[in-house]
Amino acid sequence: MCGIVGIVGNQPVAERLVDALKRLEYRGYDSAGVATLAEGDIARRRAEGKLGNLAQKLAAEPLAGTIGIGHTRWATHGAPTELNAHPHTTDRVGVVHNGIIENYRDMLIDLAKDGYQPTTQTDTEAVALWVSRELARGAQPEQAVSNTLKKLRGAFALAFMFRDDEGLLIAARHGAPLAIGYGNGEMYLGSDAMALAPFTSRLSYLEDGDWAVITHTGATIRDAKDAIVERDVQISQTSALMVDKGNHRHFMAKEIYEQPETIGHTLSHYVDMGTEQVSVREQMPFDFADLSRLTISACGTAFLAGAVAKYWFERYARLPVDIDVASEFRYREPPLEKNGLSLFISQSGETADTLAALRYCASQGQHVASLVNTVESTIARESHVVFPILCGPEIGVASTKALTAQLTALASLAIAAGRARGVLSAEQETELVRALISLPTAVSEALGTEDQIMDIAKRLSKAKDVLYLGRGPMFPIAMEGALKLKEISYIHAEGYAAGELKHGPIALVDEAMPVIVVAPSDELVDKTLSNMQEVAARGGKIILITDPEGAQTVGQGVADVILIPHVSSFVAPILATIPVQLLAYHTAVFMGTDVDQPRNLAKSVTVE
Ligand code: AGP
Repeated sequence: MCGIVGIVGNQPVAERLVDALKRLEYRGYDSAGVATLAEGDIARRRAEGKLGNLAQKLAAEPLAGTIGIGHTRWATHGAPTELNAHPHTTDRVGVVHNGIIENYRDMLIDLAKDGYQPTTQTDTEAVALWVSRELARGAQPEQAVSNTLKKLRGAFALAFMFRDDEGLLIAARHGAPLAIGYGNGEMYLGSDAMALAPFTSRLSYLEDGDWAVITHTGATIRDAKDAIVERDVQISQTSALMVDKGNHRHFMAKEIYEQPETIGHTLSHYVDMGTEQVSVREQMPFDFADLSRLTISACGTAFLAGAVAKYWFERYARLPVDIDVASEFRYREPPLEKNGLSLFISQSGETADTLAALRYCASQGQHVASLVNTVESTIARESHVVFPILCGPEIGVASTKALTAQLTALASLAIAAGRARGVLSAEQETELVRALISLPTAVSEALGTEDQIMDIAKRLSKAKDVLYLGRGPMFPIAMEGALKLKEISYIHAEGYAAGELKHGPIALVDEAMPVIVVAPSDELVDKTLSNMQEVAARGGKIILITDPEGAQTVGQGVADVILIPHVSSFVAPILATIPVQLLAYHTAVFMGTDVDQPRNLAKSVTVE
């Protein structure tokens, strides 16, 4: 994830900006830069690699100025070069950006008509040019930014500075976090409290859609409709080292809300946004085209990520997949075909059962790959190739952002496999990649169901048993919903294949047991909806998670419909995790359980 900082100061800012960026290094980056306003011009220093390279440049060519912006870049569009490093500037405006602007190509086409040409490969420059053109057309900075924000599609955070106003920064948040810091005669901006810790502990967190006009004396915050809003000024407890909860009550909530940003971050590692093709950076000691079979083994939520990926590898790469929970797999000692790939999914990279399964496969001569969040973990070290999921530290015991990062990486690998095995054409690949690129925005929108979900959760917290149903790749998501609910609210819950309902579980159905059906509109939705009628006919109370198209076929007996955006059925399982995560979280909050450290559970099960 990229890092953003800004200062409207009364002292020189260049070195302080670099200090603040150092506190964002944990987010991962490959280049960095700062810009200040001095003698009426926007000047910048940028460098590839670590912040030390930028500091050297500043030492050699200092930057004056008491207002500035800074950025650590994790490359999404364009190589990690100095040319593509932020801030991006025109003669009138400087901008730093975290996230993905989905429609930047259309913007550049429109800008070219007025002679505005980019000099980099980044999506960010389209934003700088668009604001510049608004200013050239006579708009004031606030209006220029407001007009530009209405044009943008994607999940992003932005900070702007202006040649003609050395007391003004404008910031905007849409899916990626941004905090405003309050100083004495100075104001600050940062991706999180850690960046601002050296300057102030008085913070306001922008909410999705907010944008803020920041001067030396304060900030005016407006919502997406440009109405002035108040955001609490809170005292951050963050030290410069500790990962904080931001403005959330629990780490789990913060990590649920980080997903538009973390999915975009994972995507930027596996997808070339320019060509809209998958581009796996890791050196793979095998060719997907030669593989006889893919064997996946993992535990808990990581296992369910693999269960979804089975559908993808089999459908889009025609690669046979076996999957089993590691605690069973390791003792089953299955015969493994030559030239098989064994894939181990683990957020921590330390789960004992998964490690044991890996060691069995390695002993059988398999190609061994792992998909982890902790790349220096034991599982990673014992793998022939490691695929990172890059979602940042996950503190909540209940896995949320790691799951969607796992799914995003697995979906990308399935596409790469499909291409290598000659199953996917370039056009089909582009279509699937575009579906992935649309996810951060769709996830942002799905998070908007929170108020409705809180209301449902209040009722759900009274239940003794809950049944989750899903078909196809939604079946593992139904199981994930059940796992989330039971592990943090302690309510018994089961995830079942909807088609299996009539083979037993329907005996459970009565008025007292909520049935949660995960069924966005896809080719199976009609079958799932008929399962719903079986439940409704027996007095079951249904909570349906679907999209607007699916909602049109809903019959009677549905107590609640949680609407998520319509997306390609390829990425719908990733999006459907959002409502089941929120449902479990808010039910647990109503139950008063320890959401971040549920009883009996550990974040990483390093023993059998
Ligand atoms: C998920 O919410 C649970 N905390 C648990 O099932 C977890 O996914 C499982 O223990 C696997 O952990 P890992 O991904 O670190 O291997």
